[in-house]
Amino acid sequence: MRQIWISKAGPPEVLQVKEAPDPHPAAGELRIRVEASGVNFADVMGRLGLYPDLPRLPVVPGYEVAGRVDAAGGGVDVGWIGRDVFAATHFGGYADVVCAPQARVFARPSNMSAQEGASIPVNYLTAWQLIVVMGGLKAHETVLIHSAGGGVGIAATQVAKHIGATVIGTASAGKHEELRALGVDHLIDYRTEDFEERARQITGGRGVELILDPVGGDSLKKGFRLLAPTGRLGAFGASSATNKAGYLGMASMLANTPWVQFNPLSLMNANKGVFGVNLRHIWEDFDRVQPWVDQLMGLWESGAVKPKIARVFKFDEAAAAHHFIQDRKNIGKVLLAP
Ligand SMILES: NC(=O)c1ccc[n+]([C@@H]2O[C@H](COP(=O)([O-])OP(=O)(O)OC[C@H]3O[C@@H](n4cnc5c(N)ncnc54)[C@H](OP(=O)(O)O)[C@@H]3O)[C@@H](O)[C@H]2O)c1
Repeated sequence: MRQIWISKAGPPEVLQVKEAPDPHPAAGELRIRVEASGVNFADVMGRLGLYPDLPRLPVVPGYEVAGRVDAAGGGVDVGWIGRDVFAATHFGGYADVVCAPQARVFARPSNMSAQEGASIPVNYLTAWQLIVVMGGLKAHETVLIHSAGGGVGIAATQVAKHIGATVIGTASAGKHEELRALGVDHLIDYRTEDFEERARQITGGRGVELILDPVGGDSLKKGFRLLAPTGRLGAFGASSATNKAGYLGMASMLANTPWVQFNPLSLMNANKGVFGVNLRHIWEDFDRVQPWVDQLMGLWESGAVKPKIARVFKFDEAAAAHHFIQDRKNIGKVLLAP
């Protein structure tokens, strides 16, 4: 099999394709011949040495794949063999053969492409947890979605529009036209405009009821101020830690994080809520997550959600795939194909 390794922290060019013997599925696992692997911002942060959850290097990154099952480990129904699937992987997804526990492998409908399947686990489950499970978004409410052009941003917009809510999105200016066509009601170029001020204007001074914030640092402070009473702020990333080279960016993001403002007294007095989401840390809780997958598949079948593929890169173009995301060029999901 071929795998893409991060052997040391650094620029995208540290990613290397290597060959290895095919793995054998352990008890409880299925082996998948991979047709598409998802690339996520967390992979970029891991490659930069800024992702605390990443195992010690060298490591094969990757949280999600889609393809066809070709072998089953002990205790797993052999009826899975030959089925088209998508799956969540705890690292190791940048490979053309992957073994995953059966509970994290999901049957892929015959009319869902492997590229669409590999776009679902991370982006759509994160969006679902943020908007539906913890954000409790309602039809009459307004949600501010940061990085609206990213994989999670587009998934979140689709779920929010399905609910009937109003969506304000932040994104680089070149993406606005396409994002408007994808359902974002109001767009803010966060690189030239103050998103807090603009969102306040858009809502006639009222503020917003839900914010999805993967940026971290100062963005959380502004977001908390922007919440209307009963508003909820969902923190789920730290992309601003990549704004400066090396650990300087991380230090600046941490220094700007509103540790003191988010305390029980200020939350009570403001009638506001702050919550956090880390999909990787809840993923093993299958009984909780499985119904989210089922509900999302129902929405996919009805056409209410549909992954938007930004670009597919070959395995030996993995460095270009990481540049593409880090340079903020993607509108939608970035994938690798063996
Ligand atoms: N906690 C979780 O479970 C979880 C799960 C999935 C993702 N996340 C987080 O959610 C965020 C988005 O993930 P994704 O996979 O949707 O992203 P993505 O598809 O890789 O898109 C990244 C986009 O983020 C925007 N961005 C905003 N600030 C940035 C910065 N400082 N540096 C680089 N890009 C920046 C850029 O678009 P614009 O310039 O147009 O805004 C960029 O195109 C990331 O922070 C990721 O770590 C968290």
